[in-house]
Amino acid sequence: MTDSRIPTARLGDGGPEVGVQGLGCMGMSFGYGPSDADASRATLERALELGVTLYDTADAYGAGENERFLAPFFKAHRDEVVIATKFALSIPPDDPTKRIIRNDPPYIRQAVEASLRRLDVDVIDLYYMHRRDVNVPIEETVAVMAELVREGKVKHLGLSEVTGQELRAAQAVHPIAAVQSEWSLFSRDIEAGVVPAARELGAALVAYSPLGRGFLTGSFGNADQDLTAGDFRRQQPRFTGDNAAANAALLDPVRTVAEAHGATPGQIALAWAQQRARVHGLPVIPIPGTRRPTRVEENTAAARIVLTQDELSLLEPIAGKVAGDRYADMTFTSAGRE
Ligand SMILES: NC(=O)c1ccc[n+]([C@@H]2O[C@H](COP(=O)([O-])OP(=O)(O)OC[C@H]3O[C@@H](n4cnc5c(N)ncnc54)[C@H](OP(=O)(O)O)[C@@H]3O)[C@@H](O)[C@H]2O)c1
Repeated sequence: MTDSRIPTARLGDGGPEVGVQGLGCMGMSFGYGPSDADASRATLERALELGVTLYDTADAYGAGENERFLAPFFKAHRDEVVIATKFALSIPPDDPTKRIIRNDPPYIRQAVEASLRRLDVDVIDLYYMHRRDVNVPIEETVAVMAELVREGKVKHLGLSEVTGQELRAAQAVHPIAAVQSEWSLFSRDIEAGVVPAARELGAALVAYSPLGRGFLTGSFGNADQDLTAGDFRRQQPRFTGDNAAANAALLDPVRTVAEAHGATPGQIALAWAQQRARVHGLPVIPIPGTRRPTRVEENTAAARIVLTQDELSLLEPIAGKVAGDRYADMTFTSAGRE
């Protein structure tokens, strides 16, 4: 593995310059089975050495635990990192397994204070609305987020899993630096409406789950058999039953391209995202999640892989063949409202 730092990209027209790949920190505390805290801390440090500066968390990841876990790392490197967190998935005290979407002003005010406290910082660099509550006009939500910017609690605004239309309505209230949506070789529904709107409005696309939640690396084949009880991926239709077997077969062309580059399938998935960004003409910052330093080395090295046109053509049809939705409840996504 080489030690050279990854290139940078601007996080939206008015946003900061960040490493062209960020780090998804969710799995360190939530969703993907047991974690080793020391390995996660080593992953954060290694990522920074390699030029990763955008660190992604949310208040909902482990009910605040992920923000608390990251706080010492952020304190040690405050001037080098761009901290992104999110609000909107409220966890009822009587049932920690539930999530209630809240976009209303009093909730946002309470959520930002709680995140600032847990992160132990004076200001959040990028504050996202995590999910859309259709009962609250998006203009009302973004107006409160804009107040947080004016009050110095937040520097830049982001929206996650919004439609192109919602993004346009939001942008009329305050500039949106980044849209965070699922985007990978397996999940390309946002290319129809969200991506063109983001390009037009000067927002960057922060691509979450760019490794298809690990499936594109081949690290698991069937969530029910390969992953521990409670792993979130066991609830996702495309990773279980017949769908999982059919989708595993779709990785063949990814492996073929990987072999030609002496790379791994995961690296090809990340290189694809970076190159596809050029086709769409907007900055894309994938945020692969990992808890292992060697994997952050592998993932950042993908920023140097250049795919040929033939290789891109081989990868192009994959998304259209994926069996099963990306969430059990698609109303949880922008595609469910488009
Ligand atoms: N806005 C939203 O609604 C939303 C939703 C989901 C996620 N996110 C954010 O996006 C980030 C990334 O998404 P994600 O974690 O869901 O999915 P992902 O990045 O597509 O995949 C993560 C999975 O891949 C594994 N992995 C990573 N690098 C690997 C490698 N080189 N080889 C083999 N396996 C590898 C990880 O395991 P190890 O950790 O064990 O390495 C983990 O299980 C999250 O951390 C979170 O911050 C946002």
